[in-house]
Amino acid sequence: MSAKTETAPIFSDDIFSRDAAGRYAAFSRLRDRCPVHRLPGGELVAVSHQATSDGVRSVENFSGTFSDSGALAEEDIILAGIPEPRHSEVRRIFLSALTEVSRHEPFIRTLAEQFVDETLIAAARDGEAELMQGLARRLPSAVIAYLLGMPMTDVDRFARWTDELLDRQGSATSANTALVDLHDEFAAYLERHIVERQNSANPPDDIITRFTRAEVEGARLTVRAIQTQMMFFIIAGNGTTRDLIGNLLLRLTSDEAVFQSIRQDRSLIPALVEEVLRLDSPVQLLARNCRVETILDGTTVRPGERVLLSIASANRDETIWPDAGAFLPGRERGRAHLAFGAGPHICPAAALARMEACLATVALLDRIDRLAFSPDYMLDLNPVVWANGPQTLRVKLSTKSI
Ligand code: HEM
Repeated sequence: MSAKTETAPIFSDDIFSRDAAGRYAAFSRLRDRCPVHRLPGGELVAVSHQATSDGVRSVENFSGTFSDSGALAEEDIILAGIPEPRHSEVRRIFLSALTEVSRHEPFIRTLAEQFVDETLIAAARDGEAELMQGLARRLPSAVIAYLLGMPMTDVDRFARWTDELLDRQGSATSANTALVDLHDEFAAYLERHIVERQNSANPPDDIITRFTRAEVEGARLTVRAIQTQMMFFIIAGNGTTRDLIGNLLLRLTSDEAVFQSIRQDRSLIPALVEEVLRLDSPVQLLARNCRVETILDGTTVRPGERVLLSIASANRDETIWPDAGAFLPGRERGRAHLAFGAGPHICPAAALARMEACLATVALLDRIDRLAFSPDYMLDLNPVVWANGPQTLRVKLSTKSI
């Protein structure tokens, strides 16, 4: 191990703390000392922007997760765990369906408006709105159902199954449990849609159809392999986008000046979304297994070593952003954050997630004048260690008279 790695005492409790401020302070102390540290359990944790960026970009040298995907059958391995060069072939199918996301904008805008309207109707009845339930949870799930080509009449059922799948995946006792085996009903539903498209002479142009038509390493994917990737897609896109929208709404509710500034100038919304992604990153860390010796910001990592790449820490690196802990939408290098990863495996749906966040904000701003926390609201953050976002967001709001 190079001299730049420290094994000085690190308290995992600090960097994995559910208290976000404590977690960020611990990362700041680590960044002051060196870019990569060894945890008491033996894993390494990359904390500088450079080390984290080197790690996410070194896709040939690291496997996607801590878990040993080798214990799973090939058709059960999710995209993030498939090694190169097969990875790129599967990824290309997703990418083909995720380009030109602006064509989906009218539909997503309508969905966002519908969910805000329904939230406001419930708020008029209940005296307060629950923005996670009403908007931040519903929008990502409905958008994914739409991208997969599911009938919109199934959206509520799809959302319920998605939540159940996320819960079961979060609490799966074995990291080697196949996703398809976590939810029989959902898996059977997806199977029906896959087989329908395989047997159709004129299937709809959606992601499932693309997966049924594509070849990977010269062969069509099995139904189970397609179910696996669809369930991964549902998981990858749901909690993350929900957390982004939740964190954005949290900022708007807690900072009256920010709320008023974007009410007056909607062109500031994309910069606001970017600063939320940087400072309140929905994905706080990624896990990697080293396959080939690699240098991360000057530190040598050897094959077999496990590395945590701390996006949360990288995104507060003062060598990239002066006053990095301050919330300053529109700051220089505002998009240099690693919230979506970077390099060949960067999140293929980053543009979609950004668009959903912007459209959710616009739909809300079109209808309300004021936003404040409900008097007895207590922030309850997502308990998943790598994720970051509120579980509930109860607010009082005043609606515009239209
Ligand atoms: C704010 C929302 C989102 C955030 C913060 C986010 C973040 C990330 C991150 C950090 C990665 C890992 C990159 C790596 O391993 O190097 C990733 C991968 C991925 N994301 Fe997202 N994501 C978001 C939304 C979505 C959505 C909406 C979808 C799909 C509808 C999606 C689909 C995927 C897929 C398929 C991958 C795997 C890419 C690969 O391994 O090549 N994500 N995302």
